[in-house]
Amino acid sequence: MRKKIVAGNWKMNKTLPEGIELAKEVNEKVKALHPAGVQVVLGTPFIHLSEVNKTVNAPQLAVSAQNCATEASGAYTGEISAAMVASTGCRYVILGHSERRSYYGETDAILVKKVAQALENNLEIIFCVGEVLEERESERHFEVVRSQLEKGLFQLDKSAFARIVIAYEPVWAIGTGKTATAAQAQEMHAFIRSVVNGKYGTEAAQNTSILYGGSLNAKNADELFSNPDVDGGLIGGASLKAEDFAAIIASREAH
Ligand code: PGA
Repeated sequence: MRKKIVAGNWKMNKTLPEGIELAKEVNEKVKALHPAGVQVVLGTPFIHLSEVNKTVNAPQLAVSAQNCATEASGAYTGEISAAMVASTGCRYVILGHSERRSYYGETDAILVKKVAQALENNLEIIFCVGEVLEERESERHFEVVRSQLEKGLFQLDKSAFARIVIAYEPVWAIGTGKTATAAQAQEMHAFIRSVVNGKYGTEAAQNTSILYGGSLNAKNADELFSNPDVDGGLIGGASLKAEDFAAIIASREAH
């Protein structure tokens, strides 16, 4: 059966001491909650990874990078390889976030290389897809998401695809306080599962965790998580406060 996952994406927030403090708080809350069957992920800045990995010890907690390089090693000043990420004890990497796609020009072709690097280094991938407002308004959202899946992931064989978690993040809902309705989320998640089914078959589709992201918070988590195809969340703003993040984890466990 597919995993329930609550993943925080800290983005470019928190200094190292602040990040360690937040990780400690989340670790304590997860230990107290003991959320059966929920995988909790902390997506921290690169420089926090090693320390945060040493800080957390709740069995449900894993740490994730927010990006990795397209290349394995060498003269790529300022880049961080998937091998470096894995060497800190990280289990996950977030790839294809809309902020990376739009601000840093990450194309499907670039993502194919990053996905390959991550898998070569045994990382699990939280792969983000989602349409911008104009695409939804012109009713091209299904087409856009299908294309992102096909061009970024469908080069993988079935066993490699088993290491992929998909995060549906409508760009118009990220950091805007505007959430997709539960019906909009369910509709797109079911669509994504059907596209995965078409490529990899029913078993793979049923085993793929599909997370919702975009202004998910402690108040709307129950409504979103009660949908059958919403397996968890990728959370930005609300992951920066341990209390809010813990409430979302508790909601995921309850539904
Ligand atoms: P948000 O960010 O929860 O702040 O909208 C989500 C994300 O970008 O992953």
